[in-house]
Amino acid sequence: MRERASISAGKQRVLLIPALAVYGRPMATSSSRRQRVAGLKIERWAHGGDGVALPSDGPLAGRVVFVSGGVVPGDTVAGRLVKKKARWARVQLDAIDVPSPERVEPPCAHQAACGGCPWMVGAPSAQRASRTAILFGEARKHLRWTADEAERLIEMAPDTSAAGYRHKVRLSFERRDGRVTLGYRARRGHAIIDVAECVVAHPTINAALPGVRDRLADVPLAAGEVHLVAGDRSVAVVIAGPGHRTVVGEDATTLAFGGLPLRVEADQFVQANPAVINDIIARVEGWARECQPGVAVELFAGGGTLTPGLWRAGHTVSAFELDARGRASFRTRARSFGACGEASELYGCDLFAVGVPLPAPPRPRLVLLDPPRAGAAPLLPWLRACGAERIIYISCDVATAMRDLAGLTEAGSYSVVELVGFDVAPHTGHQELAVLLARRASAAD
Ligand SMILES: C[S@@+](CC[C@H](N)C(=O)[O-])C[C@H]1O[C@@H](n2cnc3c(N)ncnc32)[C@H](O)[C@@H]1O
Repeated sequence: MRERASISAGKQRVLLIPALAVYGRPMATSSSRRQRVAGLKIERWAHGGDGVALPSDGPLAGRVVFVSGGVVPGDTVAGRLVKKKARWARVQLDAIDVPSPERVEPPCAHQAACGGCPWMVGAPSAQRASRTAILFGEARKHLRWTADEAERLIEMAPDTSAAGYRHKVRLSFERRDGRVTLGYRARRGHAIIDVAECVVAHPTINAALPGVRDRLADVPLAAGEVHLVAGDRSVAVVIAGPGHRTVVGEDATTLAFGGLPLRVEADQFVQANPAVINDIIARVEGWARECQPGVAVELFAGGGTLTPGLWRAGHTVSAFELDARGRASFRTRARSFGACGEASELYGCDLFAVGVPLPAPPRPRLVLLDPPRAGAAPLLPWLRACGAERIIYISCDVATAMRDLAGLTEAGSYSVVELVGFDVAPHTGHQELAVLLARRASAAD
């Protein structure tokens, strides 16, 4: 296996893990004095890529043990105890005693050091199993679902293709002594891992990187970020740093979402995985058809990426979004759609500062929201009281989605009808959730 020595120990293979290669920094010299723990069977990954073991005997029995260092579910490993608490412990990997049958050679030379794709060392089946376990576990914990309820209400959407799936990447760069380092942050620490080619980035992004490197030589910044978006015909690039923004080439590009073009600048929010988002738009349309056509409210609308799902189901849309650049895209999309679109409007507003500035009544039939990673906690009182028949909640963060769903369902006004996990970022613990909630009969007036 790359960067790892393998020796034979009886019938078992033992993989020795050189600390520098795997963790991207030298192991603390004190680590060799730390207690050694052996026989840890990795059950699944945690979100960030640590393995989770649940030993029933030995010094860590009964604890949830997080093992860092590139493990795969199914590995049996030994490591050094880093932290031990009453209910959990942290262990740093020393050696893989029995490698998992789901261990694979990562298709990227940077994987061990780069922070981008921590699950790439495992087969798609192992990734899917961990995504499923995380989602079911969080639903049971936050929504207090029984195993049967979770089984009935959660659907895991089919896996998607991983190669070249990302149409949007954000790279870091620094310039020292005339040399440019351009890539992703390391898995641990702040170093930048120089990346000539990223296997999950769209091929046109990789093709643009040499030109970006040349351009960085002239930019008056010692460090900063490069945003790249692969559109249908071109790649939009913005180099940004404190007080500085350079556009490389065209200032925007166009991607298709829900069958309509969406024009974005490289440093504007855009969904990175259009194939999965198009599946989500289709799901939104199916759910939106369950409501009589009427006025729908869309919160955190961006440039109207998801809105075709509402228009196709016959709704006109009042949309709200902070980034002023979204309005022009929304209007173009609305015009190209036709009647429902033309009767729709996007309003610029800070939803967390002012709430949802809707005239009352009429109340919306349907609310679609797709908040940032931090979730929509300040809007929960409005959502509970909005009176919509259905709420569709889209989220890129399982933990904050569960917190918000608990806030919508515990107070009694809504219940979850369906929750779908989408494989939006293969090789990582990220998943996109699409959730349909229905207003409870007891809450209807
Ligand atoms: C996860 S993105 C979803 C955008 C859009 N639904 C899409 O799929 O492209 C979240 C959006 O919320 C917007 N946003 C963040 N904070 C906001 C706020 N306080 N008020 C309104 N919109 C906000 C961001 O600009 C971003 O467009």
